[in-house]
Amino acid sequence: MNMTEYSELIKKAAEILPKGAFLTTANKNKTNTMTIGWGTFGFQWGIPTTEVMVRQSRFTKEILDNSMEFTLTFPYEESMKATLGYCGQKSGRDCDKIGDCSISLVPAKEITTPVVSCKGLVIECKVVAKTEMQTELTDSSVFDKWYKNGDLHTIYYGQVLACYELN
Ligand SMILES: Cc1cc2nc3c(=O)[nH]c(=O)nc-3n(C[C@H](O)[C@H](O)[C@H](O)COP(=O)(O)O)c2cc1C
Repeated sequence: MNMTEYSELIKKAAEILPKGAFLTTANKNKTNTMTIGWGTFGFQWGIPTTEVMVRQSRFTKEILDNSMEFTLTFPYEESMKATLGYCGQKSGRDCDKIGDCSISLVPAKEITTPVVSCKGLVIECKVVAKTEMQTELTDSSVFDKWYKNGDLHTIYYGQVLACYELN
């Protein structure tokens, strides 16, 4: 994919993200997906990257710390709204969100973690770095608004291995 095509897709992803996207992770026993609303897209270490922020309490963090890869699906259609709501409220620790919501999965192109399948945009990532946020390194304007309960984010830097649309 050339840089112009990639930039166009990333622009679309950034526009959809605040409405919700699926962050999908898997180990050999379970595939889980959770809704995300925050993230960044860029170029770091000379490679295209996507950063996602996952709080310590999430089941997703448990899986991701071991699998070190994830897929993102940015739905184009409003019909996924209820599923995004469910996957943003329920934890995979307590239920099977994929089964409960009858989510279709398809294999990824470059990694083993499956992709939530719907009309939308997919990004496949390998985690190349992660940073755990620290209270003393976080400005009080951010800490007081978002982290008073102490549930800090870990930021995962994903190398983008594939980026494409699903119809
Ligand atoms: C619109 C929306 C955006 C969200 N964005 C994030 C996010 O960026 N990071 C995060 O850790 N949790 C986010 N959440 C909360 C998680 O999706 C939620 O806690 C989920 O139940 C975690 O699932 P898990 O325990 O299976 O990982 C968001 C929820 C919603 C509804």
